[in-house]
Amino acid sequence: MNYRIRLVVNGFDYESDVKANETLLDFLRNQLGLTGVKKGCDGGECGACVVLINGQPVNACLVLAVELDGDVVTTIEGLDDEDSRLIQEAFVAVGAVQCGFCSPGMVIATKGLLDVNSAPTQEDINQAMVGHLCRCTGYSRTVTAVQDAADRLKARRL
Ligand code: FES
Repeated sequence: MNYRIRLVVNGFDYESDVKANETLLDFLRNQLGLTGVKKGCDGGECGACVVLINGQPVNACLVLAVELDGDVVTTIEGLDDEDSRLIQEAFVAVGAVQCGFCSPGMVIATKGLLDVNSAPTQEDINQAMVGHLCRCTGYSRTVTAVQDAADRLKARRL
């Protein structure tokens, strides 16, 4: 049985039919073609699928699409504003991107953090990045990237 949902994804209104057991991750990738949302573990362990739901970072593999009727979802494809560009530049500048598979989830988590905390401590960043696995860069560069992103956003606002 299918259920009709209406939601906003990256600023666009969608009305779609979803199965009762269809995850938000599969809906975004398979129905909307938003493959920047990565499918890693599909079980809430890796963070590759993180998107913003009403501004909050959430593992898209752990949410059923049918639960999202009326909600606002942002994926990496939707991070096209100036702040988001600076965040992504920070990740590249400090070498926190290598194979790139985990990067969309980490950038989304950074956006979610900096939207509510413009001057995060290392502990704040560690908390925001819990559950984001990376096999390439190690985690110190991720922390540096988030700190660098915060500095770039602060400088832009001066
Ligand atoms: Fe969702 Fe790994 S794919 S946490």
